[in-house]
Amino acid sequence: MKKKITVPEIMATKQNGRKITLITCYDYTTAKLVNESNIEMILVGDSLGMTMLGYEGTVGVTVDDIIHHGKAVKRGAPQTFIIGDMPFGSYNVSVEQGVISANRMFTEIGCDAIKLEGGKRSAAVIKGIVEAGIPVCGHIGLTPQTTSMMGGFKVQGKSMEAVEALLEDALAIEAAGAFMVMVEGVPTAVTRYLRERIHIPIIGIGAGVDCEAQALVLQDMLGMTEWVPKFAKKFADLRPQILDAFNTYQKEVTEGTFPTPEYSYNAKVEGLE
Ligand code: KIV
Repeated sequence: MKKKITVPEIMATKQNGRKITLITCYDYTTAKLVNESNIEMILVGDSLGMTMLGYEGTVGVTVDDIIHHGKAVKRGAPQTFIIGDMPFGSYNVSVEQGVISANRMFTEIGCDAIKLEGGKRSAAVIKGIVEAGIPVCGHIGLTPQTTSMMGGFKVQGKSMEAVEALLEDALAIEAAGAFMVMVEGVPTAVTRYLRERIHIPIIGIGAGVDCEAQALVLQDMLGMTEWVPKFAKKFADLRPQILDAFNTYQKEVTEGTFPTPEYSYNAKVEGLE
């Protein structure tokens, strides 16, 4: 049976060259499948706003939403390291608010760590949550909760000034006590520059090859959606298969070829002959 990876083992990837994986997950059935696989980590991401709830972005997702989905994931994936994603508005008021939100997610989901967005601006909250005893993963680069400030979902770190700001963010996250930092949507050379200058592992999503860990959104990597970002390799192409199954089911019912006796309870009922 799979053994759950630990925070020290995740941190050790910085030295030992082991590459690890994370996938987003939001429900029990899929969590069971991830748990059976060799994928080490699950993120109950605020991307559930888009993938599960049909929102345009991640803003609007609540701590209650993450807890609701996180509890189901935890029941399905007890041997997988689960990270709960702190939604927008759950940690941007004060350190105290961040610790209260993180405590709720950590205790009610029973997750192993939490993730939150922002570098220097979130350093005090990260420190507070770590001091409260909860492992924290930072998140910099393209941060979906603040895309309106960035002018959309745009690749970050495209000037030396921006790269230096990213490095300051990564160092602030490290100094605040985070065990890992997610870097999203930056050129490969930028990730390499950061990686050489920090001491905690980088988990990349659209951040190139030079990361200790990689993350992907489940619906992207299974090919369930019409559009996927450039960095999201489709390891399966389920959308056409699912559509085909739906349409074949509908066709067979309308044509009368499903259900057959094979898919029916055929027990004799006395008096009903
Ligand atoms: O919520 C999410 O899916 C994320 C991704 C960047 C992995 O944070």
